[in-house]
Amino acid sequence: MNTIETVEDLRSQVRAWRAAGERVAFVPTMGNLHAGHMSLIAEARTHAPRVVASIFVNPMQFGPAEDLDAYPRTLAHDRERLEAAGCDLLFAPGVATVYPRGSEAQTRVEVPGLSDILCGESRPGHFRGVATVVCKLFNMVQPDVALFGEKDFQQLLVIRRMVEDLAMPVEIVGVPTVRESDGLAMSSRNGYLSSSDRARAPALRRILEAARQSLLAGSGAAAVEREAEDALRKAGLAPDYVQVRAAEDLRPATEADRDLVILAAAYLGRARLIDNLAVQMDANAAPQQTLR
Ligand code: PAF
Repeated sequence: MNTIETVEDLRSQVRAWRAAGERVAFVPTMGNLHAGHMSLIAEARTHAPRVVASIFVNPMQFGPAEDLDAYPRTLAHDRERLEAAGCDLLFAPGVATVYPRGSEAQTRVEVPGLSDILCGESRPGHFRGVATVVCKLFNMVQPDVALFGEKDFQQLLVIRRMVEDLAMPVEIVGVPTVRESDGLAMSSRNGYLSSSDRARAPALRRILEAARQSLLAGSGAAAVEREAEDALRKAGLAPDYVQVRAAEDLRPATEADRDLVILAAAYLGRARLIDNLAVQMDANAAPQQTLR
């Protein structure tokens, strides 16, 4: 597996594959790879004969008080994992390659509506940074298909909307969340958890599961959200939000919506954990009560 740092080298490799009639799948990452990333690579291999991964810790998606400097950088180890997983090329650009004029002077991509709610409300500018870097990486790699984890459900929707709005010729594939055996969603930031916080962390998934059961049993969204937040506090996590939303576009769910998602974010020590769970309301059942 080649590691390439310049756009010129990247394009000449991708051009050669295309000339041979080969499709290209792309997995953008910020490195510190875990089994969740590896499942993206494995899925990518089922979509195209050539797989490109990128590792770029994107300064534009971190707020001023966030963990940009502390974010784990494990390039040598990541390279080995990618190679073993059958990735064909690693694109690992430096900040000056992605933002030659600095990230402040960079042309931005805004996805209105979806970017300002939920995680976007707590992390202002985060999704602008994500959309901008993903747009730029798409232009650099020019993939046929790109894969993103469903753990970052809001990010996945922001990217789908950007691709649709800007008519980008890239198919976006969402890949199910990979979990530890106790249910905790895998994340590069789980490494921030102390051992006592690590023991508390699986409560997030358990509480989302209980919230799903309550919704299916006919409880209203507002009550489910309130109960889940209380349960998080009791489990020692500080909830940022728990919200029941329409899975299609994250608008607040109404009784008419059948495809729902419960999204949650909570602080635990130095970590901010996020997770989500899809809820398919029974299409034949009449709404039992007002959702809100
Ligand atoms: O999900 C991530 O790791 C990042 O947000 C992404 C998509 C690689 C953009 O920097």
